[in-house]
Order: sequence, then C-alpha cells, then structure tokens
Amino acid sequence: MKTDVLLGLQWGDEGKGKIVDVLTPKYDIVARFQGGPNAGHTIEFMDKRFVLHTLPSGIFNSGTDNIIGNGVIIDPFILSQELAEIRQSGLTITKNLFISKKSHLILPSHRLLDAVYEHNKGELKIGSTLKGIGPCYTDKVSRRGIRVGDLENKNFNLLYKEAKKRHFNLAKLYLPKFTTIKIEGVSFEEYEKQWMLALEELKKLKLVDSEYVLNSALSNNKKVLAEGAQGTMLDIDFGSYPYVTSSNTTIAGVCNGLGVAPSKIGNVYGIFKAYCTRVGSGPFPTELFDDTGKNLQKKGHEFGATTGRARRCGWLDLPALKYSIMLNGVTELMMMKADVLSGFEEIQVATHYLINNTKTEHLPFNFEDENITPVYKTFPGWEMPLDSIKSFEDLPENLKQYILFIEKEVGVPITIISVGPDRTQTIIRNKIS
Ligand code: GDP
Ligand code: IMO
Ligand code: MG
Repeated sequence: MKTDVLLGLQWGDEGKGKIVDVLTPKYDIVARFQGGPNAGHTIEFMDKRFVLHTLPSGIFNSGTDNIIGNGVIIDPFILSQELAEIRQSGLTITKNLFISKKSHLILPSHRLLDAVYEHNKGELKIGSTLKGIGPCYTDKVSRRGIRVGDLENKNFNLLYKEAKKRHFNLAKLYLPKFTTIKIEGVSFEEYEKQWMLALEELKKLKLVDSEYVLNSALSNNKKVLAEGAQGTMLDIDFGSYPYVTSSNTTIAGVCNGLGVAPSKIGNVYGIFKAYCTRVGSGPFPTELFDDTGKNLQKKGHEFGATTGRARRCGWLDLPALKYSIMLNGVTELMMMKADVLSGFEEIQVATHYLINNTKTEHLPFNFEDENITPVYKTFPGWEMPLDSIKSFEDLPENLKQYILFIEKEVGVPITIISVGPDRTQTIIRNKIS
C-alpha cells in the first residue's frame, strides 16, 4: 500500500480539515506530517464545529488511527486544550491517537522568542501566528531541540532549564523588556505553570516510533492519508520567502515528517480555494483592495481559525496554482468554497503575470507585488446559492465553465467541489481513487 497525501496549494486555510474529515472513513490511518499549532483546521458536522491545531483531522472517526508525525512540533498546552474541547463535547478520542517520540516540543520560551523576533522586525514582520513555530524549528535544525521522547529522560528538567536560559539570553538581546510579553494573555510564569501541567497529560498519551507504526501498517495493506498543514506558498524552500512558515509544507515534507519513502507515496490530493486568501504579511499578486475583496472576505467568513485575524482576499492565481501542482505532483484537485463566489457579477482569474512588460507564468525569484501585474481573464458570475447542491450536473453553467477552464489550464482533474463548510456540502464529481 501507498500513502495518499492531502496538502494545500495556496497560502493555507484552503479547507484541508474539512476534506480530510470527509475522506477519513476510507482510511485506516490519518497522519499529520509537519507544522504545529500555527495550523487551524476547521471541521463541521451535525451542527458541531471544531478547530484542530495539532490533532489530525481524522480524529472524529473512531475506526481510524491518528498519528502526529515526527515532522510536527507540539505545544502540550495547546494539544491539551484541543483534547479538553473534544472531551467536553462528549466525544472520546485519545485511544486512537499516537504521537511520534521524535516530534519536537514547543517550549514557552519558543513562544516568547517568536514574539520578540516579530517585535524586532517591526514593519518587516512575518505576521507569524506567535505559536513559537520559527524558534522551535530553529532549535530542531541547530540540534538543540527537545523531543517528545525526551519526556522519558531523567535529565528532562535540566534540558528544559538550559533551553529556557538560552532563549532568555537571546530575547534580552533583542528586547530588554521581554519579560512583559504575555502568552495566551497571561505572564510567562503563569503560562509556564499551565504548560508543565499539560506536559504531564502528554506523557500519558501513546508515544511511539511512528515511522515503524506507519511502515508496518503500509506493509499490512492499511490505507494511510497524510495531512498537510499550511500551504505550498508558505513552504520554507518554495514559498514566498521570507514570508513563509518554517517547515516543508510540500510533498517532500511527507517523507521527512513521517518516515515514508518516496516510492510509498500514492495519490496526491491538492486542495485550493476557488479564489485566494492569505493571512499575515507577504506578497499576494492577486490581492483585492476594493469592495470585491471585502465582499469575498465577508461572504467567505475569511478570518483566521488560529488567530482570528482577517484574511486578505483576491482572485485565483493560476501561475501560483500551476507552480504548486508541479512541485507536489498533484494527481487530483479539490476546489473549495465555490459557494462564496455566488452573487458576483464577474469572476476573474489571473492566467499570467506581467513582469518587466513580459507576459509569463513563471514565478520569479523576486516574488514581490511591486514586480508583478496579474493578467486576468474574466468569467460571467452566477446568482444561484450552491449550499444544497449535490451533483456537478446541477451546478450553474457559468461555474461549470469556470471549473472546466481551470482543469484544462492545469491539466489535473478537479474531483471534489466543496459548496459549504459542512461535511455533507461536498460534491464528489468523479470517483476519488
Ligand atoms: P484549513 O486550515 O485548510 O483546514 O482551512 P481553515 O479551517 O483554516 O479555513 C477554511 C474555512 O472555510 C473554515 O472556516 C471552513 O469551515 C470553511 N469552509 C471549508 N469549505 C468550505 C466551503 O466549501 N464553503 C464555505 N463557505 N466554507 C468552507
Ligand atoms: P493552516 O494549516 C494560513 C502563516 C502566518 C504567517 C506565516 C508564518 O490552517 O492552513 P508561523 O506562525 O508559521 O511562523 O507564521 O505563515 N501561517 C498560516 N496561514 N494557514 C495556516 O495554517 C498557517 N500557518 C502559518 O499567518 O504569515
Ligand atoms: Mg487553517
């Protein structure tokens, strides 16, 4: 068996949580492979709404095992909150949750450093989610990180103290008054206490060598779905650097983040919104600053699932979408939030960029808004609301034309069209492989 993969093709928030949840009954295992609680994956069913940050989105199907892979970084406090919220809703899930001992811990002082670095960058700040992502991955790569497996190490407290001291020294260099920074609305000391309590809870979960769990599952013909976080345009190597996250959100992240060999990758499901959004700073060539942009934001409820920040909105960017499809070897596409486009008189799609008066589809090294003028193709809109449509045939003709155009341009079939946030508002057009 091979691992299928679902990952985002834009700047995150494409609707990964919803679709992983929809596909989960077909899989024995769902595994997150990178990122941390910067992710916010929303799942809606039976009038319930959950936003998952660390937990894989297969968690609501009792027949599916869920793995947090070695490529993920974990904040025990946030994980504990997620588990508590699900428990309060009457569901129990921890029995099918496994956590890689090789995943790294986000310490309270990583979150402090994230805030200090952003403060220091001023106007040039990344717009980080302030979850400690950059500092934690920095420690991982500089071989100073603390891993979940270290919880069993009798020197854990020493490791923790040393890391905290190092982080405080760094913070002081950038911002002498760093001790005034609050985390989750409380002082560092208060947050640290809560974090330590959550650590005890984490110790009681199933901590495993997940690379063995996954590979033996594949050998035993189990079906595995790898769930990405963020999106391709936020990838540390291929995204709009430096306005990116600190992990490989693209297909290679699956191999690194789960210990699955490239030859074991199966279908690659690429997910994109029918338009574009971005939260945080950084280039966004098709961003709209007018009423149309505001309308997209309002109709799409485009506010960050993790930070509550307003998402910037714009038209679909085909050069960027083609780039993402190329990098990930996408085999099937899922188009989300088609319903949000109902009621717009016209819909535009950027088919090319104009760079130095030359028309191109190539994303330049200097991927900056000032250098790029999008070239648009205009489509007529439609009025009909889509939220209760169940089949492709019943979609408005103008939307069908829009979908067929995208498919022809990118050369990959769009097999799912999502017309609302609920599980049931999902049109499966062709049989998913
Ligand atoms: P993720 O990070 O990729 O999982 O996406 P988010 O959960 O951050 O953001 C997607 C948002 O769109 C969530 O609020 C979803 O409930 C919502 N959503 C997902 N699919 C659809 C859809 O087809 N139509 C509408 N209107 N909302 C959707
Ligand atoms: P999901 O999985 C959208 C953005 C942040 C910021 C940049 C770096 O829900 O799609 P970080 O905290 O990672 O250092 O922030 O990346 N960002 C996301 N944007 N969706 C996400 O995750 C994101 N995770 C990080 O806004 O611009
Ligand atoms: Mg999200």
